Amino acid sequence: MQTITPFIEKQGIVCTETVAGPNALVVFGASGDLTHRKLLTGIFKLFSQDLLNESFYVLGCGRKTFSDEDFREKAIQSIRDNIDSVSPEGLDAIANKLYYLDGDYNDPDYYQRIRAKLTQLNREHRVHNRVVFYLAVPPFLYAPIVEHLGSAGLTCPAKPESREKVKLVLEKPFGRDLESAVELNNHITRYFSESQIYRIDHYLGKETVQNLLMLRFANTIFEPVWNRNFIDNVQISIAETVGVEHRAGYYDTTGALRDMFQNHMLQMLTLVAMEPPISFEADRIRDEKVRLLRSVRPFDLNRLDEFWVRGQYGPGTLNGKTLKGYLDEPGVNPDSKTETFVATKLFIDNWRWQGVPFYLRTGKRLAAKDTEIAITFKKIPYSLFSSVGLNELPANVLVFHIQPEESISLSFQAKRPGSKLCMSTLNMSFSYERLFSVHLPDPYKRLLLDCMIGDQTLFTRQDDIEVSWQLLSPILHAWEQDASAPYTYAAGCDSFAEADRLIEADGRQWRKVLHD
Ligand code: BG6
Repeated sequence: MQTITPFIEKQGIVCTETVAGPNALVVFGASGDLTHRKLLTGIFKLFSQDLLNESFYVLGCGRKTFSDEDFREKAIQSIRDNIDSVSPEGLDAIANKLYYLDGDYNDPDYYQRIRAKLTQLNREHRVHNRVVFYLAVPPFLYAPIVEHLGSAGLTCPAKPESREKVKLVLEKPFGRDLESAVELNNHITRYFSESQIYRIDHYLGKETVQNLLMLRFANTIFEPVWNRNFIDNVQISIAETVGVEHRAGYYDTTGALRDMFQNHMLQMLTLVAMEPPISFEADRIRDEKVRLLRSVRPFDLNRLDEFWVRGQYGPGTLNGKTLKGYLDEPGVNPDSKTETFVATKLFIDNWRWQGVPFYLRTGKRLAAKDTEIAITFKKIPYSLFSSVGLNELPANVLVFHIQPEESISLSFQAKRPGSKLCMSTLNMSFSYERLFSVHLPDPYKRLLLDCMIGDQTLFTRQDDIEVSWQLLSPILHAWEQDASAPYTYAAGCDSFAEADRLIEADGRQWRKVLHD
């Protein structure tokens, strides 16, 4: 049984949180990085805040041979490494809910053992056969694991009306292009219906990203100006300082367009630009996101260079440290043409956005970690202050700053104290951490809870995935056939000439990457 806990903290502040019902969480890839850095930490946070049901347990599945005890020890270490203060009692209590079963993902017998283990643990923990299967494994294992789960009878409860008791969580990337995404989906939907599938995009679990919905649709002041009449352009940037790290095997065959753009960037775009949904229900919000993606103007493949820039980091320095170029990173093919940076200009063909350029860029090994969405409004039509030389006044800019600090700010022109005509750009801003004096919740904590309570709002639906691949697959295929390599940029730079030209050709500039 799910409990909804509404609480009113002060007048005008309404918070609700739903406590998960009985649930088993079966994690494939349980000895991997994602499980230990993100999932177990997220679970521990939910557990410590009483958001998990007493009837809950985790069964880790993986290839490495571990006992329950080994898994518990490793899990406790990961939780300690990732959370500042943890109580020993809390750790003991969660440890007692962790189990592990090793095996070969391709062996049908493994799934029979999982089945037997679940039957035993479900009874012991009274989870009423509610199971979430979380695939924290490389994407090539999605189809075989789902197939085996299906063949072992693990995907459908005895009664069809109890279907939603069994859920499947998949990490990105979902497919490599339109064709593979459709194929993967056809495969998965043989065993799971869409209402059971939770495709994770962890950006949707970030507070400021979710706040786009609140800010746009819980206020009256934004909607009247949220359109081509008032907005000059929108910029969405995800700059990272990290390079390819230990992930060359995955990244070198993936690249920035598939790794960051098809998912995180386009998801942020949809929340900024979609029409108001008719309700806050998951599918009504997801309908509008898909509608928006369908309105993105397809790119003219003969003019791709006008709309897209690909880059790859070369050697450079960051904070005084010398950094290798991408081609020298361990595991990277020395002739690789994989892009580690991508920037585009796109247009949305609907009444709201006709003619407004959206500039999007993301890259690794840039000067700072900085993610933001910036809405730049049009300039004033005429300056009253031209007599004193103030002809060109800066435009108002509304910025959703997503990381490293989550904040929202609005810039405007205002008088400074002193002489009669003295003006400058001021910022009205609030920082979540400073205002609420809390560390912002980890996206995985939010997403794990939502999945357990059955709320699909922050998960991507198949049609969303397909429309985004429809838009991007032709570009990927064109690049694959293009003999030229991406432009090289120096590791640690803010931007580079070719990326700048993309926006400067329109008489605009990228916003500066914020340094720490
Ligand atoms: C992941 C990408 O989805 O997002 C990584 O695979 C990237 O390449 C990461 O580094 C960025 O996430 P965040 O939350 O640190 O911005």
